[in-house]
Amino acid sequence: MRRPVRIAVTGAAGSISHSLLFKIATGEMVGHDQPVILQLVEMPEAMEPLRGIAMELEDCAFPLLHSISLHDNIEEGVVGAHYVMLIGAKPRGPGMERSELLTANAPIFAKQGKAINEHANRDVKVLVVGNPANTNALIASRNAPDLSPAQFTALTRLDHNRTRGILANRTGANPKAIRQVIVWGNHSSTQFPDLRHATIYGEPAFRQIDQKWYREQFIEKIQKRGSAIIDARGHSSAASAAQAIINHMYDWINGTPENDWVSMGIVSDGSYGIEKGIFYSFPVRCDYGRYQIVQGLEISEFAQQKMTETEQELIDEMRTVGDLLPAETEESHRNLSVCLRSGITLYDDGISLPKQYLQTDRVR
Ligand code: NAD
Ligand code: LMR
Repeated sequence: MRRPVRIAVTGAAGSISHSLLFKIATGEMVGHDQPVILQLVEMPEAMEPLRGIAMELEDCAFPLLHSISLHDNIEEGVVGAHYVMLIGAKPRGPGMERSELLTANAPIFAKQGKAINEHANRDVKVLVVGNPANTNALIASRNAPDLSPAQFTALTRLDHNRTRGILANRTGANPKAIRQVIVWGNHSSTQFPDLRHATIYGEPAFRQIDQKWYREQFIEKIQKRGSAIIDARGHSSAASAAQAIINHMYDWINGTPENDWVSMGIVSDGSYGIEKGIFYSFPVRCDYGRYQIVQGLEISEFAQQKMTETEQELIDEMRTVGDLLPAETEESHRNLSVCLRSGITLYDDGISLPKQYLQTDRVR
């Protein structure tokens, strides 16, 4: 029997979590032979609905669900956590850009970064979902001086999945036949869904779609998909976001398939000339709990322009939240080795780990 891992989820009574928690409890996130402890975090006023969700989880009698704890504060909620999903934040409404949420949501992530630094397992893997996800991930990571920036990621897998799903619909291919798509940059309307390296049933996607449709319709459709969903259903995506969270974490923990890669918002090490230290979505391959940026891809002039545009937006967002970024972590975020590592998983509560464990080569 494997020892259970601790998974902390904030915003646990919100819309995304309502789909996510049940998937985690069935083993879809960490593996179908891995027991889990759910540490659910909410605002004090949402503890009663959260208690109802916990009862429902219990009533499913999931074999892998070891136990559930409920917390109205982040400090207790992340104690010993191996995985932390930072979802709790305000969602945007119709007509808003995600960056407009920065003022309301940014302080949440500074506090949560500090709490994770103090209380989580030393090898914790963190996924930031609350918008604007990339810059919130930057804030959380910069407030966690004892952890590696590579332990923090932002969700752009939803955009990656949208790219595959919509392309599959256009071409008639099964989504699983679509490989090597990339979403570069910010989880915002400047993101760049790049099909130049993509294949459909092993053949270049560019031979199967027309360039005019790609440049004039497809890119914008992906960039604005989140708004289209808000306009149609009156609330932002929830079930598809939960699925993307599962995919992101499963691949990070268990590895990406052969001959494919995924898009993850991670701290930039300067690859492809992207400003070091911002959280930017890159194509990555994962293996045994680590990820590495796919190197050496050819970048066209068109792609370069799009990649720079979304990079600039992230630099601007970083400047806006400058007061939440402690100077002491600037160096560690700007000087990562090219080989980003996110460590191994310790099946230990990690509370009294020897200090030298922190002296790995993850931050050079
Ligand atoms: P929701 O309003 O349905 O739920 C949010 C929950 O978070 C609420 O229950 C609220 O009480 C809780 N919460 C707020 N602040 C908290 C805090 N400090 N600590 C703990 N809990 C807190 O929203 P939702 O639809 O679940 O979306 C949550 C966030 O995820 C939003 O910011 C949304 O924009 C974002 N989102 C991101 C992606 C992505 O791909 N990155 C996709 C979908 C949604
Ligand atoms: C999405 O992409 O669906 C989410 O980020 C929610 C939003 O605000 O668009």
